[in-house]
Amino acid sequence: MSYKAFYVSTPIYYVNDAPHIGHAYTTTAGDVLTRWHRQRGENVWFLTGVDEHGTKVQRAADAGGVTPQEWVDRLVHDAWLPVLGTIDAANDDFVRTTEPRHVQRVQKFWETVKDNGYVYSAPYQGPYCVGCEEFKLPGDLVEGTGEFTGQLVCPVHGRPAEELQEDNWFFQLSALGQALIDHYEAHPEAVQPRSAYNEVMSFLRQGLVDISMSRSSVSWGIPLPWDPRQVVYVWFDALLNYVTAVGYGSDPGTPDSERYAHTWPCDVHLVGKDILRFHAVYWPAMLMAAGQPLPRKVFAHGWLLVGGEKMSKSKLTGIAPAQIIDHFGSDAFRYYFMRAIAFGQDGSFSWEDMSARYTAELANGLGNLASRATAMVNRYCAGLLPTPGEYTPAEQALIDMVADISPAADAAVEELDFATAIGHVRGFIEAVNGYVTDVEPWVLAKDPAHAERLHTVLYTICECLRAVAVLYNPVMPAAMQSMWEHIGGADLGPLGEQRIDTVATWGQLRPGSRITKGDALFPRLEDTDAG
Ligand code: ME8
Ligand code: MG
Repeated sequence: MSYKAFYVSTPIYYVNDAPHIGHAYTTTAGDVLTRWHRQRGENVWFLTGVDEHGTKVQRAADAGGVTPQEWVDRLVHDAWLPVLGTIDAANDDFVRTTEPRHVQRVQKFWETVKDNGYVYSAPYQGPYCVGCEEFKLPGDLVEGTGEFTGQLVCPVHGRPAEELQEDNWFFQLSALGQALIDHYEAHPEAVQPRSAYNEVMSFLRQGLVDISMSRSSVSWGIPLPWDPRQVVYVWFDALLNYVTAVGYGSDPGTPDSERYAHTWPCDVHLVGKDILRFHAVYWPAMLMAAGQPLPRKVFAHGWLLVGGEKMSKSKLTGIAPAQIIDHFGSDAFRYYFMRAIAFGQDGSFSWEDMSARYTAELANGLGNLASRATAMVNRYCAGLLPTPGEYTPAEQALIDMVADISPAADAAVEELDFATAIGHVRGFIEAVNGYVTDVEPWVLAKDPAHAERLHTVLYTICECLRAVAVLYNPVMPAAMQSMWEHIGGADLGPLGEQRIDTVATWGQLRPGSRITKGDALFPRLEDTDAG
């Protein structure tokens, strides 16, 4: 196959516990991005999944009194797969690191890297943070506070690392530092945002040391093919999901090997900034050592904070997505997090802020416009979309605005600046609401002499809503599907097939289409308490 799919990944999340809104945040961003690219007419591949091996998961299973396999099976089926439905994610695949396709290809990958001369055996001694599943470097730890005053602690988890001493196999990372620097100097767009790029470059310029690629005191993992008493270090197992799930290492001529050829390299690895170094340093180094192409972009977004700290499973500060979605719905959840927090920066979730935006921007802003438009077509035109007459400057201003905001929103999504993309559509909705207030269609409706003018106005409002449905579909697929049906969009085909590059072409809705007034897109909330 000749085309290259637009390939987007999320991290594969640890299944030591159930998902919280931090995990849902990354997956939502990936879903918005890939839905948008599908509506650009591209072939898209969106991968998410779970990281099932390692000490952290093993300890969680031990504490739960079950085997690690039982533990991960239960959590994946009860929590991690269902949350994709809860947030309305349309992923193309879901990878689990205990699957045979992954296990076999991980072994093949490391065999290749060893054959290429980048793996050797040596003892490791030093600190290991189980929360991060990471061998810590001297500069990584910080002064502890509270019960850990006087000790060095992990800056993410706030607790001391465990001192490890074991015989390991090492990955010769030090040999690849200069190649990575050269690569990123030639491709500054490959790590974003800019702050993340700078952090990676300064880490690389300090010089890299070799790193353990196996663990001998851990049993829950993938055995090394050449030394089955050891398992692959969990990160060097997990990162490989991005290639194993799309067919790396499969036999030539098979569908899997074709998929690899037209999917890899990944276009965007979406990650939180906590795991930037793994994705922008260790991962490309592994790929170089195996002779595989490097990912095109790693984008490190910020953290959802609780009380100024990263929301986390280990600190029990996680909010389950359903706690918010049961109240506001999945569309408002997706909208809020993409709109209220600049992608790449930290942000806090606040119930009050979300309620306020829901009411102002969704219920009053868009929902009210859609229900007024469909109600008026029903009342004044027997539910059939009227034929527009001559346009005046007021309509032309809206027609011009769609032509401006559509490419602007597209450019913003290209930069993963979701808040700006949404801002363009919001500005347009405000303009349409302003237009309705100005032209007062309910006044025009009183005088039959103004029938043609009324028809032009109502057609214009519905056409504007068509553009909004197309542009907001990646963000709010369920609500936009309803709106699409209400405004007669079904006559134009499925909403998900409407293209971003032609959305601004005016006059697509067909006069005579049936316009229906369904349930409110964004119903008024009963109360705004978290309970
Ligand atoms: O790190 N704010 O898994 P993990 C924003 N298994 N995003 C957050 C977040 C928060 N407070 N908390 C979590 C791992 N995330 C590894 C990854 S990939 C080969 C292996 C999101 O369960 C964010 O994407 O700790 C972060 O990077 C990821 O979940 C970490 O999930
Ligand atoms: Mg984590």
